[in-house]
Formats: sequence, structure tokens, C-alpha cells
Amino acid sequence: MTWKQMFTSSVGKKLVMGFTGIFLILFLIVHVGLNACIWANDGGEMFNKAAHFMGSNLIPRILEIGLFVGFILHIVQGYMLTLQNNKARSVGYAVNYKDGSKWYSRSMALLGSIILIFLIIHLSHFWIPNRMQQGLTLGNEKDLYALMKETFSGNDSRTLITIVVYILGCAALGYHLAHGFQSAFKTLGIHNKKYFQMLAAIGFIFSIVVCLAFALMPLSFHFGWIN
Ligand code: HEM
Repeated sequence: MTWKQMFTSSVGKKLVMGFTGIFLILFLIVHVGLNACIWANDGGEMFNKAAHFMGSNLIPRILEIGLFVGFILHIVQGYMLTLQNNKARSVGYAVNYKDGSKWYSRSMALLGSIILIFLIIHLSHFWIPNRMQQGLTLGNEKDLYALMKETFSGNDSRTLITIVVYILGCAALGYHLAHGFQSAFKTLGIHNKKYFQMLAAIGFIFSIVVCLAFALMPLSFHFGWIN
């Protein structure tokens, strides 16, 4: 397959979705793992140490560029595939295409769009202020623990709306992953029934654990479960 076909044919587009999807899943594992340091309940010492490592090292900062490229490719190809499928469907089958599939596997573009809105809001809370302070330098990052505490702690309507947005974002992510995890491995060629069933089960548990862990973070600050 040529590079051009990779981005224009539907098989190529699906491959790009699969590869970038797995890359983004790896990012989520690192992100949820690093953020879980907040539950050390040590006033943010462990979390800020881990965040400092990520912010002061060249390799994570270079990987960050790859992460944004991965996000953009995943989003653009996702919308292109959806448009292509919708077009084919309006010609293809006039009646019912629901074939017993789950609602969330038929709503990947909608769930992805909710995650995209969440992501823009989320980056404006943490990543943008942090990078504005850092500029092109390494280190010199904000006290991200204090920033999270400030973002989620209050009882004013702005904070409460922020928390609802985070929980909706995490729920959309959970459903997106519940289909996306297994779908990515299928696209990359795992068709053996036994392995596929195992991956589907791992994907399902992964989606629930990751989305619950993320959703519990703003709640932990808000309800003062951590100091
Ligand atoms: C819900 C709980 C979450 C909390 C408390 C949280 C917290 C944070 C913090 C503090 C940063 C700043 C890191 C930095 O500037 O170095 C960050 C960055 C980021 N977060 Fe989250 N996050 C959450 C969920 C998510 C989810 C669900 C996603 C993806 C869908 C996500 C995607 C990102 C991305 C892409 C970055 C920028 C990463 C980088 O390049 O440094 N986050 N998050």
C-alpha cells in the first residue's frame, strides 16, 4: 500500500485509525497512571514530581508533538471515514442497517466529537497555561496539582459545570474505547476468535477502569477526598 492509498482508500483510513487509536490508548495508560499519583494524598508531591519529569525531559516533550499529530490524524480520518460510510449507506441499504450492533459502536463519530470538545476545554485548563509559562524551555512548569485543586474544588456554578463536563467527557471516552479498543486490534489483523474474544474482554474492562479513574479525579478534589 502506498502512502497516498494509506490516506485515501477506506482500508488505508481504517489502518490509520487503528494505529493512531492504539497510540492514543498508550498515551491514556501513561496519563491515567501519572495522574493516579494524586491519590498518594501527599499534597501533590508525588504527582508534581512525575509531572516535573515529563515537563523537564526532552523525550516526553518530543513525544508530545507525536501525540498531537496522532490526535489530528485520528480525528480527520475518523470524520472522513464517517462521511464515506454515510454516503455509501444512503445508496446501499434503504431500510435497516442496525444488524444487532451496540449503539456506541454506531456512534463513534458523535462520541469522538464530545471527546474533542472535552479535550479543547481540558487543554485550556492545564496544558495551555502550563506551556505558556514554560515557553520553549524545559522544566519551569506550573504547580499542576494546585491548578487541579483550584479547578475542581469550589462550589460556584463555573466549577460545578466544569466537573459535569469532565464526567461527560470521561463517559464518552469510556463508550468510545469500549468499541474502539477491540476494533483497532481487529483492523490491525487479529481475527483469531480466541484472541479476539480475549482482547474484547480486556478492552471492555480497560474502558471501564480508565474512564472511572479519570472521572474520580475531579470528584476527589471536589469532595476533598485528597488534600
Ligand atoms: C478527567 C481527569 C483528567 C485530569 C484531572 C487531567 C489532568 C491533566 C493535566 C494536569 C494535564 C497537564 C499536563 C502538562 O501540561 O504537562 C493534562 C494534559 C493532557 N490531558 Fe488530561 N486529564 C484528565 C483526563 C484526560 C482525558 C480523558 C484525556 C483524553 C481524552 C486527556 C488528554 C490530555 C492531553 C492530550 C494532555 C496534553 C498532554 C501533553 O502533551 O502534555 N486528559 N491533563
